[in-house]
This record gives sequence, structure tokens and C-alpha cells, in this order.
Amino acid sequence: MVPFTRLLHAPLLFTYIQLAVNALKIPTQGGPYCVSISELSFNDPARTDPYAQGKHDRTVMVSLFFPITASSCTRNCTKEYMPSETSQISSENFRLDSSPDLFEDLEFQTCCSSNKISHPKDFPLVILNTAVATSRHLYGGIAQAIAAHGYAVITVDHPYDASIVEFPGSGPGAINSTVYNSIPLSPFSDIRKFNHTITQAMQTRFEDIDLVIRNLANPMVVKQLMPSAPYGAAFNTSNMGIMGHGVGGGVAVWLAFTDARFVVGIDFDGTPPIFKEETTQGVVFFGREGHTRDEDIGWRETWGMLRGASWEWDLQESAHFDYSDLGLVVDLKGMESGSVRGLGDVEGRMAWNATVDFSVAYLDAFVKGRGLANLQGLVALYPGMVPYGG
Ligand SMILES: *[C@@H]1O[C@H](CO)[C@@H](O)[C@H](O)[C@H]1NC(C)=O
Ligand SMILES: *[C@@H]1O[C@H](CO)[C@@H](O)[C@H](O)[C@H]1NC(C)=O
Ligand SMILES: *[C@@H]1O[C@H](CO)[C@@H](O)[C@H](O)[C@H]1NC(C)=O
Ligand SMILES: *[C@@H]1O[C@H](CO)[C@@H](O)[C@H](O)[C@H]1NC(C)=O
Ligand SMILES: *[C@@H]1O[C@H](CO)[C@@H](O)[C@H](O)[C@H]1NC(C)=O
Repeated sequence: MVPFTRLLHAPLLFTYIQLAVNALKIPTQGGPYCVSISELSFNDPARTDPYAQGKHDRTVMVSLFFPITASSCTRNCTKEYMPSETSQISSENFRLDSSPDLFEDLEFQTCCSSNKISHPKDFPLVILNTAVATSRHLYGGIAQAIAAHGYAVITVDHPYDASIVEFPGSGPGAINSTVYNSIPLSPFSDIRKFNHTITQAMQTRFEDIDLVIRNLANPMVVKQLMPSAPYGAAFNTSNMGIMGHGVGGGVAVWLAFTDARFVVGIDFDGTPPIFKEETTQGVVFFGREGHTRDEDIGWRETWGMLRGASWEWDLQESAHFDYSDLGLVVDLKGMESGSVRGLGDVEGRMAWNATVDFSVAYLDAFVKGRGLANLQGLVALYPGMVPYGG
């Protein structure tokens, strides 16, 4: 057996080196922190999954992007950008031709060992909620870059709503280890009407996010997500930011309005349910050409209820997925924006940079209380990002 094992090892090692040499690195957009990445599933024994065939507990998957001070990071590792089936399915959803897999050969550089204890309370929490029928992994680059600026960022996959969720092992409870999208909503069209399909998907996300937050306040769970955390430590869930894309953006704004644990809601090109009470909550809406507050069935009315700090920015010549990692990936691969579905004429990398930089500026202002001084610089840096009516 021994020689046979050796024979097998040689080509495997070679493949590994090849991959490491060719892999493209996901950038952190100037963030001073290194970032660790961990994943965990959260199970809700009190809730039956509304979409599963048969009776199963609702179970979600999350990724945590956590900042590590660069000087205390003792080991760098790499982590694949997407697990392989997620990469394949995501690729099929965006490819217009038979070009190779869009998302393979991409990797994160993560910090996987540190000589300092990380306390979950050292960094404020930010929830990043995805567009419908996509994967949380399609936002890993944005999440990592925001984490590199000093935030603990959580991305969530909502099973049956996400394009695919790969649970490690067989998944907790009786759930299948891989769950595919079954909700008939497309991320390529704006919401035109709040029908049952969209209302149920949003309600399910509200409950999933509440489940995630309750788990992040539980030291037993935190120890699993962050083995380097001190025993008994948990996240501070009283001063969080929430942001999202598409349906996830609508969810972010609604939760910012209704859940006092959030201090700001940032919506990338999504439609919030119509909010009928006045609110002083801070909100930011990023639209695109042809999708401003006036063209949105949720924002048109909701905007009139805003009494606090509120902004709308519209990225010229952009399309919906310019507010995800897609533009970055296409740029890293040297492809044209027009070769995939969902990107506009704007330079994909510029749109991704703007998504990260504007998010950090607003989170710094609302979550860290640092004021909006950074915004002025961004206005000069991104002339394509124009204020509503500007
Ligand atoms: C598990 O997968 C099988 C086969 O694809 C499917 O029939 C079943 O409904 C799935 N179970 C759940 C809980 O989604
Ligand atoms: C990890 O990578 C960062 C960024 O490339 C570098 O500054 C740091 O020195 C590396 N740390 C170690 C322990 O290799
Ligand atoms: C519900 O609304 C969504 C978004 O406008 C739309 O895509 C979907 O087709 C609608 N579903 C039904 C059953 O009308
Ligand atoms: C959580 O953060 C808020 C805002 O920074 C602070 O007022 C509060 O005391 C913190 N709670 C705990 C338990 O640390
Ligand atoms: C994006 O940001 C990076 C890092 O700040 C910078 O090097 C790059 O030139 C920017 N690209 C665009 C197109 O804005």
C-alpha cells in the first residue's frame, strides 16, 4: 500500500501548487486589518422550515468575517472563494456563453492564527444580506473588505431562497446537505408588487436574521465560530449595522426601521416593504439609472416617512449586480462586463470599490459615531455615483 499512496501524493501536491500559483486573490480595499473567516449553521428548533418538503427545523448557514490586528496575525492561509458546487451554479446563473467557471481559481487570504485573544465585542457587528436566488459567497469579497476596516461582518444564506446552500456534513437535523433554490423570484427583476411569494420570503429572512443574532449573543455558539474568543464572550448585538442587496436591501431597511438593535440600514438597489409610520432611523439607498426612489414601489411611499438622516445615491450606467462581487470577479479575470448577466456599462471594479467605500463611510458614521467626513473624498473619487436629483 505504501508505494501506491506515494504515487498518489505526487500529482496531488503538484495540483495544489499549480492552483496556489494561479489563484487570484480577493482584495481588501485598503482595510488595515487582516481577516479570519469561519462558517457555521444555526438551527431553530422552534420553527418549521416553511419551504422544506416534510417537517424540518429551519436551519441557516452563516459566514463570519472577523478583523485581526495585522501585527498580531502569526499565520496567513488561503481559503477558496466559493465551494465547488456553489461556484458552478453561480457561474451558470451569470454566464452568457460557455466560458469557463467564473468563480473558480479565486481565493481569500485569511489570517488563521493570532498571538492575541480576539474578543467578539472588540468590533461592531454588521449583517450583510444577499439578493434572492444568489449565494452568500457572492458577497464574500465585500464582507471581507468591510471586515478589514474593523467590523465583524456576517453573511447569511437563507435555504430555498439562496441559489444553493452547501451545509457541511449532512447538515444539522434531517435537512439535506445541499439545498437548492425553490422560491420563484428572480434577482434580475425589481419587485413590482408585494405578493405572497415576496412577503413570505422577506418574513422568513426577518426570522432567520433574528435567529442569527440570538446565536451571536450566545457564548456557547460564539466559541464554535471563534475558537480564539475568551470563554463566555459573545457579540454586542445592541449597536449593529445592516446592509443588503436587492431583496436583502429591502430586508435591511425594514429591520433598521423596526428593530432597535440596528442603528443604520443600507439598501443596495432593493425595495423595502412600504413603511407607513414616520421614522428618524438613518437610511441609505443606492439606486441605479432607471431605478431611483421614484421608480421603486417601496421607496416611493416610504421615503415620505423619513424624518432622520437619509441619502440616495444612484450609480450611473450600473446594473443590479454591480453592487455584488460580480464586477470585481469579472475585472480580476480580465473579462468584459458585457460577457456576464447583471452588470452595467460602468467599470465593474470601480462599482465594487464604491460599494465597499461608501458602506464603510456610512458604517463609520452611524455604527462607530465618527461623522461623515470621509464621504466628501468619495464624492470626488467616484463621479459616477450621483446624489438623487443631482
Ligand atoms: C432532500 O432531497 C430530496 C431529493 O432531492 C427531496 O425530495 C427532499 O424533499 C429534500 N428534503 C428537504 C428537507 O428539502
Ligand atoms: C500576512 O499577510 C499580510 C498581508 O499580505 C502581511 O502584511 C503579514 O506580514 C503576513 N503575516 C504573516 C505572519 O505572514
Ligand atoms: C410576485 O412578485 C415577484 C416580484 O414582483 C414576481 O417576480 C413574481 O412573479 C410574483 N409571483 C406571483 C406568483 O405573482
Ligand atoms: C454594546 O454597545 C453599546 C454601544 O456601543 C454600548 O452602549 C453597550 O454598553 C454595549 N453593551 C455591552 C454589553 O457591552
Ligand atoms: C479600486 O481600489 C483599489 C484599492 O484602493 C485601487 O488600487 C484601484 O485603482 C481602484 N480601481 C478603480 C477602478 O477604482
